[in-house]
Amino acid sequence: MSVSEILDGKLTDKEVELKGWLVTKRSSGGVQFLVIRDGTGIIQATVHREDVEEKVFSEAEKLTQESSLIVKGIVKEDKRAPGGYEVRVKDLKIVHLAEREYPIAKKSHGVDFLMSFRQLWIRSPRQTAILKIRAEVEKACRDFLDENGFTLTDSPILTPSSVEGVATLFEVPYFGEKAFLTQSGQLYVEATIAAFGKVYCFGPTFRAEKSKTPRHLTEFWMVEPEMAFYDFEDNLKLQEEMVTYIVRRVLEKRRRELEILKRDVEPLKKVEPPFERISYTEAVEMLQKAGYEIEWGEDLGAPHERFISLKFEKPVFVHRYPAKAKAFYMQPDPENPEVVLCADLMAPEGYGEIIGGSERIHDLKLLERKIEEFGLPKKAYEWYLDLRRYGSVPHSGFGLGIERTVMWICKLKHVRETIPFPRTINRLYP
Ligand code: 4AD
Ligand code: MG
Repeated sequence: MSVSEILDGKLTDKEVELKGWLVTKRSSGGVQFLVIRDGTGIIQATVHREDVEEKVFSEAEKLTQESSLIVKGIVKEDKRAPGGYEVRVKDLKIVHLAEREYPIAKKSHGVDFLMSFRQLWIRSPRQTAILKIRAEVEKACRDFLDENGFTLTDSPILTPSSVEGVATLFEVPYFGEKAFLTQSGQLYVEATIAAFGKVYCFGPTFRAEKSKTPRHLTEFWMVEPEMAFYDFEDNLKLQEEMVTYIVRRVLEKRRRELEILKRDVEPLKKVEPPFERISYTEAVEMLQKAGYEIEWGEDLGAPHERFISLKFEKPVFVHRYPAKAKAFYMQPDPENPEVVLCADLMAPEGYGEIIGGSERIHDLKLLERKIEEFGLPKKAYEWYLDLRRYGSVPHSGFGLGIERTVMWICKLKHVRETIPFPRTINRLYP
């Protein structure tokens, strides 16, 4: 039996057994008030001296914060109790008496300190709410793609080459050779489309990001759909549908968690297709008018994305970036080869990029030229070039960053709370 079942009102006046951990305890007169957490929710259990054997009452007195325990008792509706229900305890067993002095008991700890005790901090209500939402977002991504004819094809983590530029590669010794932790599974899903048509990979990706910002991790999770015969326009449509599906799912299934986070859900309710669209060139003009020092040709930085994202109520696509500011594999715009058929999706409320996607180059000669222009070692990409030698088709895809998406949906200030154990430039522990 779980706390969530009790809070749903399914077990009123029934006897239950709860297994969990003690969040807090206070006593008043002959009653001890235990707040218990079991992973599905939090509930108050009361131990009345007159209800229980003397031994049970004294066991309850011993309890320290975070002790694990099993209680048996009767569920009572009680308007005064948080959540509207409480358990009147009849029996109690301590499974493990936690050491005194819980290291993160004080309310005043800063995030950095709490991150050093992440193994304990993940138990707190805010953190569990965020991680529940993360799990829901991940499931929504998979459900959406699985329901729409996609096949999951996992990409390797150890790779011989870069996808998103050589500046952020993690190098790993590999039996006398060099391997790199993958920056993106994209190149491999470009291979599997010729076997399955519509595919995706979903896994951890790595960037040796030297930037210390609230939205950069060195290890993050990405879901990367790739579709044969999809052009630029088809790609954007799919992204609109998928992001809408994810947001609706969280609104439907994770209301309790959004409430714990005090997330205003009104802006989330506005997320539905079609999303806004502006070109990179228009974005630069908007920024220049507003006094930002940015030249056409530069990639957009966090403050620029923030500015643009605040101008729109819904997610907005910024499309057709300068070829030089983006990756080597992107298809040039036939109407202006200075720009490529790519789009970044900016989440609203100032959040900025959550998706990067593009139509890919499918012509062998052009791709060979780009690999050379970008100074990449052609030998490492021979297998990738083969895809343009045998049954090449126009195709497109995108990568949605799970942590950035969760950060926006939960409206957090920092991406590090969206993953159980974050990795950043200055954090590898715990
Ligand atoms: O824009 P990016 O670099 O695109 C790619 O990697 C493509 N190969 C994806 C594809 O087309 N299959 O990254 C995609 C998304 C970003 O929009 C962002 O959400 C997330 O990945 N991301 C990061 N999240 C956290 N920390 C970082 N350092 C991130 N870098 C990218
Ligand atoms: Mg990007």
